[in-house]
Formats: sequence, structure tokens, C-alpha cells
Amino acid sequence: MDLQAIADDIVRDLAPRLGEGKVADYIPELAKVEPEQLGIAISTVDGTTYQAGDAQTIFSVQSISKAFMLTLALGKVGETIWRRVGREPSGTAFNSIVQLEHEHGIPRNPFINAGAIVVTDIVLSGHRPREAIGEFLRFMHYVADDDSLYIDEKVARSEQRTGYRNYALANFMRGFDNLKHPVDHVLGVYFHQCALAMNCVQLSHAGLFLANRGTNPLTGFSVVSPRRARRINAIMLTCGHYDGSGDFAFRVGLPGKSGVGGGILAVAPGKASIAVWSPALDETGNSLLGGVALEMLAARTGWSVF
Ligand code: DON
Repeated sequence: MDLQAIADDIVRDLAPRLGEGKVADYIPELAKVEPEQLGIAISTVDGTTYQAGDAQTIFSVQSISKAFMLTLALGKVGETIWRRVGREPSGTAFNSIVQLEHEHGIPRNPFINAGAIVVTDIVLSGHRPREAIGEFLRFMHYVADDDSLYIDEKVARSEQRTGYRNYALANFMRGFDNLKHPVDHVLGVYFHQCALAMNCVQLSHAGLFLANRGTNPLTGFSVVSPRRARRINAIMLTCGHYDGSGDFAFRVGLPGKSGVGGGILAVAPGKASIAVWSPALDETGNSLLGGVALEMLAARTGWSVF
């Protein structure tokens, strides 16, 4: 199978559609991104990376960070995490507050904003916010095997100024005692993790441990056990695209985690880690062309898990 040709074909075939969808504008810094961009990187478990289009352009990973923060939190507290956050799809938007009132401040899953804020609270335990941000960044350097990754302070501050919905979610959960630290501390870390800047090549490297039973094949570093990698992939498949998760499973058939910056990390277990990026989003807040690109990739490779 010629993965380079597949990546090139996808970028070429989607060129006429560039700009479909709408760039996120509720975070002012993200509204400035040029919409007509598309990148793809495919890193196989045998250690080869194929790339096409804007695969080396840096973008804001936003909610894709939730998959890595979940990994970190599981490493700290193990399965006890499920006392404070569920693992069911929400069927509601990524920033929805509705279920929290009926469900005792326990978010449905770790990938909607409310759930990710609880995960951040867990990673924060015993640390100052600055230390927790440093721990997250070092973890990303380790999993991507790339010390050049950085957090874009401008994006973090932009969201800190306008993140009213997240303040509402966090205050509401603190009211149910499901946040242990001050809201400002937790959200300070959360906004910084979301502001991690990466390109498709770096992101596809960072996801390799999920495709390779918990071990990064480029470095040989073990990140999680095979069982934990399987479980993180299961949550990505069922919850990684919010109320678009069912549709993503139907069309692509791979575990995936999207971000409002337009990136998607997809995992083909035993085969490859794939990162796509195109900043214009569909109505569920997921990359429109990124989803189409992965649909084309899955059709050409036969990598669907189903
Ligand atoms: O909390 C937020 O709203 C953003 N920092 C992240 C949301 C996000 O990426 C949703 N993804 N599609």
C-alpha cells in the first residue's frame, strides 16, 4: 500500500473544497487562522512518517490535549478516576452544561470540556498550576520525542479572557465538590494545555503509543500498558468527537480526538497514528475537511476497526 500516494491524493482531491466550514471564533486568537489549509501526517508503527499538504504548519491542538491529559491522570490515580468522571458519550456539545445538574456534577466523559476540567484538577493535585503545565509539556515532549513543542501563551491568554462557558462549568462542578482546587488554578492549567502548539507530523508521532499497544515504536519508550492504550482508544472512539462521535465512527471507524483548532488525531490500532488539520469546522465543532480526509484514508487503507 502506497501511503504517500494516498496522502497526496487526499490533499489534492480536497483542494477545491478548502474553506468549507467555519473557523472557531469564540477564542479570538483562533479566529485569525487562515481557513484554507489542510495537512495530513501518517506515522506507521514500523516507524515511517508520510506527510502531505500543510503537515508542518503549527496549529493549536485545543481539545486533542484531552487525550494526553487523560493518559497523565490515569497514570496518577489509575482507575479511581472513574469516580469523578464517566465514560459514556454525552450526545451534547463539547461545552454543554445540561447534564451536570442531573448527574451530581459528574461529567459524562473526560473529553467534553467539563470532563477534561475534572481531569485537569486531578493532574493538578499537589502542584502549583505552573508545575502542572510544566509536567504536561514534559509529557508531550516525551510522547512525541520532540523537545521543541511549546505552549502558545497568546492563545492561552485569549481563551482565559473569553472562556466564560468554561468558568461556568468549573464553578458548577466546584459547587458539587467535584473540583478540589480553585477554579482559576484549574482553568489556568486547562487553557494552557489547550494552547499547546503542534504540527501534524509532531502530533502523529505523539499518538503512536496509542497505535502500538502503549509503546512508542520510534523510541521504545513505554507510555502505558497495552490494556490502558486499548481503553483510551475506546473512549476516543465513543466520545472523541462529542455529539459527532457516532457519525465519525460511522464514516471513519477509528478512535479519534478532535480539537477546535481544526486538528484530529486518529488511531489505527496496530497500524498507524494519523494527524490531520484543517481549521474550518462543521456544526459540531470538529474539522470539516479533516473528517472527510480521514474518511477517504479509511476507505483507501481499509483501516476501520469494524
Ligand atoms: O475549552 C474550549 O472550549 C477549548 N479550549 C477547547 C474546545 C475544543 O477543542 C472542542 N473541540 N472540538
